[in-house]
Amino acid sequence: MDTGISNKIYRHWWLEQDEENLVWLHLDKADSSTNTLSEAVLTELEDALNYLHHHPPRGLVIRSAKENGFIAGADIGEFTCFESQHAALEAIQRGQRIFNLLESLSCPTIALIHGYCLGGGMELALACRYRIAEDSPETRLGLPEVRLGIHPGFGGTVRALEAAGPLTALNIMLTGRSFSARAAKKMRLVDYAVPERHLLNAARSILRTPPKQTTLPWWLKLLNHRLLRPWIAKYMVKTVAKKAVRAHYPAPYALIDLWRHYADDREQMLREEAVSVANLLVGKTAQNLIRVFGLQETLKGLGREGEQQASKPKYVHIIGAGVMGGDIAAWCALQGYQVSIQDREHKTLGRVIQRAVGLYRKRLKKPRLVATTLDRLMPDLPGYALARADIVIEAIFEDAEVKQQLFREIEPQMKADALLCTNTSSIPLETLAEALEKPARLVGLHFFNPVAKMPLIEIVHGQNSSAENMLRARAFAKSLSRLPLPVSSSPGFLVNRVLMPYLIEAVVLAEEGVPLKVIDDEAIEFGMPMGPIELADTVGLDICLKVADILSQDMDISVPERLRSLVDRGRLGRKTGRGFYTFKKGQPLKTPPNKDYIPPVDLQERLILRMVNEVIACLRDGVVETPDLADAGIIFGTGFAPFRGGPVHYLQDRGAQQVYKMLQQLEQRYGQRFAPDSGWQAWLEQEADNG
Ligand code: NAI
Repeated sequence: MDTGISNKIYRHWWLEQDEENLVWLHLDKADSSTNTLSEAVLTELEDALNYLHHHPPRGLVIRSAKENGFIAGADIGEFTCFESQHAALEAIQRGQRIFNLLESLSCPTIALIHGYCLGGGMELALACRYRIAEDSPETRLGLPEVRLGIHPGFGGTVRALEAAGPLTALNIMLTGRSFSARAAKKMRLVDYAVPERHLLNAARSILRTPPKQTTLPWWLKLLNHRLLRPWIAKYMVKTVAKKAVRAHYPAPYALIDLWRHYADDREQMLREEAVSVANLLVGKTAQNLIRVFGLQETLKGLGREGEQQASKPKYVHIIGAGVMGGDIAAWCALQGYQVSIQDREHKTLGRVIQRAVGLYRKRLKKPRLVATTLDRLMPDLPGYALARADIVIEAIFEDAEVKQQLFREIEPQMKADALLCTNTSSIPLETLAEALEKPARLVGLHFFNPVAKMPLIEIVHGQNSSAENMLRARAFAKSLSRLPLPVSSSPGFLVNRVLMPYLIEAVVLAEEGVPLKVIDDEAIEFGMPMGPIELADTVGLDICLKVADILSQDMDISVPERLRSLVDRGRLGRKTGRGFYTFKKGQPLKTPPNKDYIPPVDLQERLILRMVNEVIACLRDGVVETPDLADAGIIFGTGFAPFRGGPVHYLQDRGAQQVYKMLQQLEQRYGQRFAPDSGWQAWLEQEADNG
């Protein structure tokens, strides 16, 4: 049969016609391990689709030739290059045009999905008539654009609403969450979720006899009615406002407005979708969130560098089953390692298993998965499994001599090439390494509390730690789905050193009589996820005091009396039900200030600039290698307002000179602790050079 179609090979795509006149369009983005929709990829797609318009086949299947997935999204690197709103708008309109072309093909079209199908990839799939997704844990679909400060722009808002109805579609776009193939099927975002072995046959049989397309039930369509939309939109705005302020995160609000105003008219909604995304894209929030995404990729890349060097570890042995050791053990087992955990006491091991069960039930849901994960976590009071471990993690009391003593005992029993990691938060690695025959094997692996929630691990190198072991530690952190941040062994490393002056300033403000809620609200207003007073209560005031005491030996901080007295009285924060706040059902009771209370005008500056000043000091001391790594560490280690792009980016955005002057003013008002660090000189010169 001569259909007029021949195979076509592009740089990123190839188009293949089979004997049934079905066309298979494969994406295999050149020079990249992952498929993303770059301008070049879209240009070729447009060419292929134009070709198919002129030579219509019996059906079209779009699929990926990459193992890891379908399409992970648009090419985010290209998002930062637009010089104007107009340029951004043109690029988005072009994307829309190409997806409209796909939608308007006369033949049935299928997106055949495995692995990642996110953002622009999901939008492309939605422009196909049918979607078939592989039913496997690796398949993840979603429209996560809101996390980058935008919303779908290639017609995705319109098509998601049409496929899933307003409640579901807006929910997934507003949260940016990803979901499985089965969940997507339930939400009507895919038509079929099938095992891998049936994928190709399912596609063929649909193209041979296209089934009727599923439509929304009437009651879901009704929710789109123009009389109902304002009410639903109002409710959604209220829900969003609990999580994100419009001034800081405009994208979710823009999305709700778009639906509310234009959902009656498909063409107009498409036009307005493009305008809305273009406006967001050139705004500061999106540019900073895209920057944060890039920083996250940088840290992942540091982990990958290690992967190439090291053989993959299998057995992890943890010593010390307290708050940290226990949770680290549970997390390692959840990530697939064979884990043994040792302590001096039986009862601590029992508690570890209890906490692990809680975590696994929450994360894994299915009892069978919980049981198999628990099988990988072995209580090991005497430490029998130490001898087979590839990685040993020490998380016992924060006492140099006790740790050294332990190292002397365990080193002769360890495998010759096993990596030894310490979770110390303050003891110099050099001190601990003195107890070792092979000091090069020791690295710091500084986890944060709570382990299951905090995405960062500081990878601490002492003077003796070998380069190869640092790489192994980074790769290990990445294999735990954590972001590795290399830091030097100096007091507080990066995160605690920067966090502590901020927390202490908050306590000083409280001592001055500023209501606790006012202090916390001011930090939240800046964009922090939680106020410093509540954060101190959450971390535990005893731990804050310990770190503050240690850091005060090297840094210019004096530990506030109020912190010490609370700890003396056993008011340790959330864990004891009382700290600065009193907690009820795990929530702090925050008393609002008197109506006529006026907070100090420089309250926010006092909190934030103490952090910024300390970051400059860390860079001067070489705690982290680059300003970008400092920003990444502070964002992922403390939650520093992501939409501001990190503390260094924030100071550059405001102007180094301006921030410096503010610090000088604060120094005059409140004393030495605000004195600008000597590291500022370099920043001021750099700014002057750049004009
Ligand atoms: P913890 O006091 O809750 O637990 C320490 C555990 O080690 C106890 O169960 C104890 O029985 C056990 N232990 C002590 N000596 C031992 C030995 N010779 N052999 C076997 N087990 C022994 O302490 P936590 O809070 O878990 O801290 C552990 C380490 O993690 C410390 O170095 C700390 O500085 C660090 N860290 C703590 C953080 C936190 O938020 N608690 C955060 C990051 C690091």
